[in-house]
Amino acid sequence: MSIKLENVSKTYLHKGNRIEALKPVDLTIQSGEIFGLIGFSGAGKSTLLRMMNLLEFPTTGSVAVGDVVLTDLDKKSLRIKRQKIGMIFQQFNLIESKTVYENIEFVLKAGKFDKKQMKSRINELLELVGLSDKHDQRPGNLSGGQKQRVGIARALANDPEVLLCDEATSALDPETTKNILKLLKDINKKLGITIVLITHEMEVIKDAADRVGVMSAGEIVEINDVYSIFSHPKHTVTQGFVQDIYDFIVPKHIQESDAHRLVTLKFLNDNAEENHLNQLYREFKLDISILNGRIEYIKDEPLGIIMLSVSGEETEINRMLTYIDDIAGVERADIYG
Ligand SMILES: Nc1ncnc2c1ncn2[C@@H]1O[C@H](COP(=O)(O)OP(=O)(O)OP(=O)(O)O)[C@@H](O)[C@H]1O
Ligand SMILES: [Mg+2]
Repeated sequence: MSIKLENVSKTYLHKGNRIEALKPVDLTIQSGEIFGLIGFSGAGKSTLLRMMNLLEFPTTGSVAVGDVVLTDLDKKSLRIKRQKIGMIFQQFNLIESKTVYENIEFVLKAGKFDKKQMKSRINELLELVGLSDKHDQRPGNLSGGQKQRVGIARALANDPEVLLCDEATSALDPETTKNILKLLKDINKKLGITIVLITHEMEVIKDAADRVGVMSAGEIVEINDVYSIFSHPKHTVTQGFVQDIYDFIVPKHIQESDAHRLVTLKFLNDNAEENHLNQLYREFKLDISILNGRIEYIKDEPLGIIMLSVSGEETEINRMLTYIDDIAGVERADIYG
Protein backbone atom coordinates (compact mmCIF):
# COMPACT_ATOMS: atom_id res chain seq x y z
CA MET A 1 0.00 0.00 0.00
CA SER A 2 1.14 3.53 -0.63
CA ILE A 3 1.43 6.07 2.16
CA LYS A 4 0.49 9.62 1.35
CA LEU A 5 1.14 12.61 3.59
CA GLU A 6 -0.21 15.99 2.57
CA ASN A 7 0.83 19.14 4.37
CA VAL A 8 1.51 17.11 7.52
CA SER A 9 3.15 18.93 10.41
CA LYS A 10 3.55 18.36 14.13
CA THR A 11 4.08 20.98 16.79
CA TYR A 12 4.54 19.97 20.41
CA LEU A 13 3.86 22.22 23.33
CA HIS A 14 6.47 21.66 25.97
CA LYS A 15 6.54 23.79 29.14
CA GLY A 16 4.97 26.67 27.28
CA ASN A 17 7.35 26.36 24.32
CA ARG A 18 6.25 25.40 20.84
CA ILE A 19 8.50 22.75 19.33
CA GLU A 20 8.09 22.40 15.60
CA ALA A 21 9.12 18.74 15.43
CA LEU A 22 7.88 18.38 11.87
CA LYS A 23 7.45 21.22 9.42
CA PRO A 24 4.69 20.84 6.80
CA VAL A 25 5.63 17.99 4.49
CA ASP A 26 4.16 16.35 1.39
CA LEU A 27 5.43 12.83 0.93
CA THR A 28 4.27 9.82 -1.05
CA ILE A 29 5.78 6.44 -0.35
CA GLN A 30 5.03 4.02 -3.18
CA SER A 31 3.33 0.71 -2.64
CA GLY A 32 5.91 -2.06 -2.22
CA GLU A 33 8.99 0.10 -1.80
CA ILE A 34 11.49 0.18 1.03
CA PHE A 35 11.78 3.83 1.99
CA GLY A 36 14.70 4.83 4.20
CA LEU A 37 14.59 7.86 6.48
CA ILE A 38 17.92 9.12 7.75
CA GLY A 39 18.91 12.10 9.85
CA PHE A 40 20.64 13.12 13.04
CA SER A 41 19.07 12.78 16.46
CA GLY A 42 16.17 15.18 16.89
CA ALA A 43 15.67 15.66 13.13
CA GLY A 44 12.05 14.52 13.38
CA LYS A 45 12.28 10.98 11.99
CA SER A 46 10.25 9.26 14.71
CA THR A 47 7.73 12.08 14.66
CA LEU A 48 7.26 11.63 10.92
CA LEU A 49 6.90 7.86 11.35
CA ARG A 50 4.31 8.28 14.10
CA MET A 51 2.25 10.36 11.70
CA MET A 52 2.01 7.38 9.34
CA ASN A 53 -0.03 5.26 11.75
CA LEU A 54 -1.48 8.16 13.72
CA LEU A 55 0.27 7.00 16.86
CA GLU A 56 0.14 10.76 17.24
CA PHE A 57 -2.25 13.07 15.49
CA PRO A 58 -0.69 15.64 13.14
CA THR A 59 -1.13 19.33 13.91
CA THR A 60 -2.00 19.95 10.27
CA GLY A 61 -2.57 17.86 7.18
CA SER A 62 -3.88 14.48 6.11
CA VAL A 63 -2.47 10.96 6.09
CA ALA A 64 -3.65 8.19 3.79
CA VAL A 65 -2.63 4.54 3.57
CA GLY A 66 -3.80 3.23 0.22
CA ASP A 67 -7.20 4.78 -0.42
CA VAL A 68 -8.06 5.17 3.25
CA VAL A 69 -7.58 8.63 4.73
CA LEU A 70 -6.58 7.84 8.32
CA THR A 71 -7.08 11.38 9.50
CA ASP A 72 -10.78 11.13 8.53
CA LEU A 73 -11.50 7.89 10.41
CA ASP A 74 -13.41 7.58 13.67
CA LYS A 75 -11.71 5.85 16.61
CA LYS A 76 -13.05 2.39 15.93
CA SER A 77 -12.28 2.36 12.20
CA LEU A 78 -8.81 3.69 12.96
CA ARG A 79 -8.19 0.88 15.45
CA ILE A 80 -9.09 -1.68 12.81
CA LYS A 81 -7.03 -0.02 10.09
CA ARG A 82 -4.05 0.25 12.45
CA GLN A 83 -3.85 -3.53 12.64
CA LYS A 84 -2.76 -3.34 9.02
CA ILE A 85 0.15 -1.09 9.92
CA GLY A 86 2.87 -3.04 11.70
CA MET A 87 5.60 -1.36 13.72
CA ILE A 88 8.93 -2.50 15.13
CA PHE A 89 11.20 -0.66 17.53
CA GLN A 90 14.81 -0.41 18.61
CA GLN A 91 13.95 -1.75 22.07
CA PHE A 92 11.81 -4.60 20.68
CA ASN A 93 8.97 -3.86 23.16
CA LEU A 94 8.28 -7.52 23.97
CA ILE A 95 6.41 -8.65 27.06
CA GLU A 96 9.07 -10.23 29.26
CA SER A 97 6.73 -12.48 31.23
CA LYS A 98 5.27 -14.09 28.12
CA THR A 99 6.82 -16.71 25.85
CA VAL A 100 7.66 -16.01 22.23
CA TYR A 101 4.45 -17.80 21.25
CA GLU A 102 2.36 -15.79 23.70
CA ASN A 103 3.91 -12.50 22.61
CA ILE A 104 2.50 -13.09 19.14
CA GLU A 105 -0.76 -14.60 20.38
CA PHE A 106 -1.30 -11.43 22.34
CA VAL A 107 -1.64 -9.26 19.23
CA LEU A 108 -3.67 -11.90 17.37
CA LYS A 109 -6.28 -12.01 20.13
CA ALA A 110 -7.50 -8.64 19.02
CA GLY A 111 -8.20 -10.21 15.61
CA LYS A 112 -10.69 -12.91 14.84
CA PHE A 113 -8.88 -16.27 14.93
CA ASP A 114 -10.02 -19.46 16.67
CA LYS A 115 -7.48 -21.45 18.67
CA LYS A 116 -6.49 -23.79 15.88
CA GLN A 117 -6.10 -21.04 13.26
CA MET A 118 -4.16 -19.04 15.80
CA LYS A 119 -1.71 -21.88 16.40
CA SER A 120 -1.04 -22.48 12.75
CA ARG A 121 -0.70 -18.73 12.09
CA ILE A 122 1.85 -18.32 14.89
CA ASN A 123 3.83 -21.32 13.70
CA GLU A 124 3.82 -19.93 10.19
CA LEU A 125 5.11 -16.57 11.45
CA LEU A 126 7.83 -18.15 13.57
CA GLU A 127 8.97 -20.16 10.59
CA LEU A 128 9.05 -17.02 8.44
CA VAL A 129 11.39 -15.28 10.88
CA GLY A 130 13.46 -18.42 11.52
CA LEU A 131 12.48 -18.98 15.15
CA SER A 132 10.46 -22.20 15.05
CA ASP A 133 12.60 -23.69 17.83
CA LYS A 134 12.13 -20.72 20.21
CA HIS A 135 8.41 -21.09 20.72
CA ASP A 136 8.41 -21.50 24.47
CA GLN A 137 11.37 -19.29 25.33
CA ARG A 138 10.92 -16.02 27.13
CA PRO A 139 12.51 -12.86 25.67
CA GLY A 140 15.13 -12.88 28.44
CA ASN A 141 16.64 -16.02 26.92
CA LEU A 142 16.96 -14.60 23.42
CA SER A 143 19.72 -12.64 21.70
CA GLY A 144 19.02 -9.14 20.40
CA GLY A 145 18.61 -10.39 16.85
CA GLN A 146 16.20 -13.11 17.97
CA LYS A 147 14.18 -10.60 19.97
CA GLN A 148 13.87 -8.40 16.91
CA ARG A 149 12.73 -11.44 14.91
CA VAL A 150 9.94 -11.91 17.45
CA GLY A 151 9.16 -8.20 17.07
CA ILE A 152 8.94 -8.67 13.31
CA ALA A 153 6.75 -11.79 13.61
CA ARG A 154 4.45 -9.89 15.94
CA ALA A 155 4.31 -6.90 13.61
CA LEU A 156 3.39 -9.20 10.71
CA ALA A 157 0.77 -11.15 12.66
CA ASN A 158 -2.25 -9.32 11.31
CA ASP A 159 -1.06 -9.25 7.69
CA PRO A 160 -0.05 -5.61 7.57
CA GLU A 161 0.10 -3.62 4.36
CA VAL A 162 2.80 -1.40 5.77
CA LEU A 163 5.66 -2.02 8.19
CA LEU A 164 7.15 0.93 10.05
CA CYS A 165 10.61 0.34 11.54
CA ASP A 166 12.04 2.84 14.01
CA GLU A 167 15.76 2.16 14.44
CA ALA A 168 14.98 -1.54 14.29
CA THR A 169 18.62 -2.53 14.00
CA SER A 170 20.28 0.16 16.09
CA ALA A 171 20.70 -2.07 19.13
CA LEU A 172 22.25 -4.88 17.07
CA ASP A 173 25.80 -5.68 15.99
CA PRO A 174 26.70 -5.24 12.29
CA GLU A 175 26.36 -8.94 11.43
CA THR A 176 22.97 -9.29 13.13
CA THR A 177 21.91 -6.02 11.48
CA LYS A 178 22.67 -7.56 8.08
CA ASN A 179 20.58 -10.63 8.92
CA ILE A 180 17.61 -8.59 10.10
CA LEU A 181 17.82 -6.38 7.01
CA LYS A 182 17.86 -9.48 4.84
CA LEU A 183 14.74 -10.70 6.60
CA LEU A 184 13.03 -7.35 6.04
CA LYS A 185 14.01 -7.38 2.36
CA ASP A 186 12.67 -10.94 2.00
CA ILE A 187 9.40 -9.91 3.63
CA ASN A 188 9.17 -6.89 1.33
CA LYS A 189 9.68 -9.12 -1.73
CA LYS A 190 7.67 -12.13 -0.65
CA LEU A 191 4.71 -10.34 0.88
CA GLY A 192 4.87 -7.05 -1.03
CA ILE A 193 4.70 -5.05 2.19
CA THR A 194 5.69 -1.39 1.99
CA ILE A 195 8.48 -0.74 4.50
CA VAL A 196 9.59 2.54 6.06
CA LEU A 197 12.97 2.24 7.71
CA ILE A 198 14.33 4.87 10.08
CA THR A 199 18.03 4.77 10.78
CA HIS A 200 20.98 6.98 11.50
CA GLU A 201 23.33 4.47 9.87
CA MET A 202 24.16 4.90 6.20
CA GLU A 203 25.07 1.21 5.98
CA VAL A 204 21.45 0.28 6.64
CA ILE A 205 20.27 2.64 3.91
CA LYS A 206 22.90 1.37 1.48
CA ASP A 207 21.92 -2.22 2.02
CA ALA A 208 18.15 -2.02 2.09
CA ALA A 209 16.48 1.16 0.86
CA ASP A 210 15.03 1.76 -2.60
CA ARG A 211 14.50 5.46 -1.94
CA VAL A 212 15.78 7.70 0.79
CA GLY A 213 14.56 10.81 2.58
CA VAL A 214 17.15 12.82 4.47
CA MET A 215 15.80 14.76 7.44
CA SER A 216 17.16 17.77 9.22
CA ALA A 217 15.48 20.13 11.68
CA GLY A 218 11.97 18.86 11.04
CA GLU A 219 12.23 18.86 7.26
CA ILE A 220 12.98 16.38 4.50
CA VAL A 221 15.89 18.22 2.91
CA GLU A 222 16.59 15.71 0.16
CA ILE A 223 14.76 12.78 -1.34
CA ASN A 224 16.04 10.47 -4.06
CA ASP A 225 16.72 6.89 -5.10
CA VAL A 226 19.43 5.32 -2.98
CA TYR A 227 22.06 5.26 -5.73
CA SER A 228 21.68 8.98 -6.42
CA ILE A 229 21.89 9.73 -2.71
CA PHE A 230 25.31 8.09 -2.62
CA SER A 231 26.61 9.11 -6.02
CA HIS A 232 25.25 12.67 -6.16
CA PRO A 233 24.40 13.89 -2.66
CA LYS A 234 23.12 17.47 -2.92
CA HIS A 235 22.33 18.78 0.54
CA THR A 236 25.19 19.32 2.98
CA VAL A 237 23.52 17.00 5.50
CA THR A 238 23.38 14.23 2.88
CA GLN A 239 26.98 14.91 1.89
CA GLY A 240 27.92 14.58 5.54
CA PHE A 241 26.24 11.19 5.74
CA VAL A 242 27.94 9.80 2.63
CA GLN A 243 31.34 11.44 3.08
CA ASP A 244 32.87 8.26 4.46
CA ILE A 245 32.96 6.64 1.08
CA TYR A 246 34.69 9.66 -0.49
CA ASP A 247 37.11 10.18 2.33
CA PHE A 248 40.59 9.17 1.37
CA ILE A 249 43.57 9.99 3.43
CA VAL A 250 45.91 12.09 1.34
CA PRO A 251 49.51 10.95 1.82
CA LYS A 252 51.43 13.64 3.71
CA HIS A 253 54.30 14.03 1.27
CA ILE A 254 52.00 15.06 -1.57
CA GLN A 255 51.95 18.76 -2.37
CA GLU A 256 49.48 19.82 -5.00
CA SER A 257 50.67 22.19 -7.68
CA ASP A 258 49.84 23.06 -11.30
CA ALA A 259 52.10 20.23 -12.38
CA HIS A 260 50.93 17.77 -9.79
CA ARG A 261 47.27 17.20 -9.02
CA LEU A 262 45.16 14.90 -6.99
CA VAL A 263 42.14 13.87 -9.01
CA THR A 264 39.28 11.91 -7.50
CA LEU A 265 36.99 10.15 -9.93
CA LYS A 266 33.61 8.52 -9.64
CA PHE A 267 32.77 5.58 -11.85
CA LEU A 268 29.02 5.12 -12.01
CA ASN A 269 27.15 1.84 -12.41
CA ASP A 270 28.76 -0.50 -14.96
CA ASN A 271 31.67 1.88 -15.38
CA ALA A 272 32.85 0.96 -11.90
CA GLU A 273 33.96 -2.42 -13.09
CA GLU A 274 35.43 -1.26 -16.39
CA ASN A 275 39.04 -0.24 -16.73
CA HIS A 276 38.88 3.34 -17.93
CA LEU A 277 42.28 4.03 -16.46
CA ASN A 278 43.99 2.17 -19.30
CA GLN A 279 42.54 4.78 -21.66
CA LEU A 280 44.09 7.54 -19.59
CA TYR A 281 47.48 5.83 -19.49
CA ARG A 282 47.40 5.42 -23.26
CA GLU A 283 46.10 8.84 -24.23
CA PHE A 284 48.18 11.14 -22.07
CA LYS A 285 51.84 11.78 -21.49
CA LEU A 286 51.45 11.97 -17.75
CA ASP A 287 52.55 10.10 -14.67
CA ILE A 288 49.36 8.67 -13.28
CA SER A 289 49.30 6.56 -10.17
CA ILE A 290 46.44 5.29 -8.06
CA LEU A 291 46.66 6.50 -4.50
CA ASN A 292 43.47 4.95 -3.30
CA GLY A 293 40.31 3.37 -4.60
CA ARG A 294 37.22 1.47 -3.67
CA ILE A 295 34.03 0.04 -5.06
CA GLU A 296 30.86 0.42 -3.02
CA TYR A 297 27.83 -1.69 -3.75
CA ILE A 298 24.60 0.22 -3.27
CA LYS A 299 21.71 -2.20 -3.45
CA ASP A 300 24.04 -4.38 -5.55
CA GLU A 301 24.83 -1.55 -7.99
CA PRO A 302 28.52 -0.62 -8.09
CA LEU A 303 29.92 2.87 -7.44
CA GLY A 304 33.68 3.17 -7.88
CA ILE A 305 35.79 5.96 -6.38
CA ILE A 306 39.45 6.38 -7.20
CA MET A 307 42.00 8.94 -6.16
CA LEU A 308 44.79 9.54 -8.67
CA SER A 309 48.04 11.36 -8.39
CA VAL A 310 48.72 13.02 -11.74
CA SER A 311 51.88 14.83 -12.69
CA GLY A 312 53.17 16.32 -15.92
CA GLU A 313 52.65 19.45 -17.94
CA GLU A 314 49.79 21.63 -16.84
CA THR A 315 48.24 21.79 -20.33
CA GLU A 316 48.38 18.01 -20.61
CA ILE A 317 46.72 17.64 -17.20
CA ASN A 318 43.95 20.02 -18.23
CA ARG A 319 43.51 18.13 -21.49
CA MET A 320 43.08 14.94 -19.48
CA LEU A 321 40.49 16.53 -17.19
CA THR A 322 38.48 17.74 -20.18
CA TYR A 323 38.73 14.25 -21.67
CA ILE A 324 37.46 12.69 -18.44
CA ASP A 325 34.53 15.09 -18.34
CA ASP A 326 33.42 13.70 -21.71
CA ILE A 327 33.40 10.04 -20.68
CA ALA A 328 29.84 9.01 -19.91
CA GLY A 329 29.50 7.50 -16.48
CA VAL A 330 32.81 8.86 -15.23
CA GLU A 331 32.84 12.06 -13.23
CA ARG A 332 35.24 14.09 -11.20
CA ALA A 333 34.21 13.80 -7.58
CA ASP A 334 34.04 16.55 -5.06
CA ILE A 335 35.35 15.64 -1.69
CA TYR A 336 32.59 16.21 0.76
CA GLY A 337 32.71 17.25 4.37
N1 LIG B 1 6.27 14.15 22.86
C1 LIG B 1 7.09 15.18 22.62
N2 LIG B 1 6.96 16.33 23.30
C2 LIG B 1 7.77 17.38 23.04
N3 LIG B 1 8.74 17.37 22.12
C3 LIG B 1 8.92 16.25 21.42
C4 LIG B 1 8.11 15.09 21.63
N4 LIG B 1 8.52 14.13 20.76
C5 LIG B 1 9.54 14.66 20.06
N5 LIG B 1 9.78 15.93 20.43
C6 LIG B 1 10.80 16.82 19.87
O1 LIG B 1 10.65 16.82 18.47
C7 LIG B 1 11.90 16.83 17.81
C8 LIG B 1 12.00 15.64 16.88
O2 LIG B 1 12.04 14.45 17.66
P1 LIG B 1 12.09 12.99 17.03
O3 LIG B 1 11.96 12.03 18.14
O4 LIG B 1 11.10 12.90 15.93
O5 LIG B 1 13.55 12.94 16.40
P2 LIG B 1 14.35 11.71 15.77
O6 LIG B 1 14.84 12.18 14.45
O7 LIG B 1 13.52 10.50 15.81
O8 LIG B 1 15.59 11.58 16.76
P3 LIG B 1 16.37 10.26 17.27
O9 LIG B 1 17.31 9.88 16.17
O10 LIG B 1 17.10 10.74 18.47
O11 LIG B 1 15.36 9.21 17.58
C9 LIG B 1 12.95 16.86 18.91
O12 LIG B 1 13.33 18.17 19.11
C10 LIG B 1 12.21 16.32 20.09
O13 LIG B 1 12.73 16.81 21.29
MG1 LIG C 1 13.69 8.67 16.76
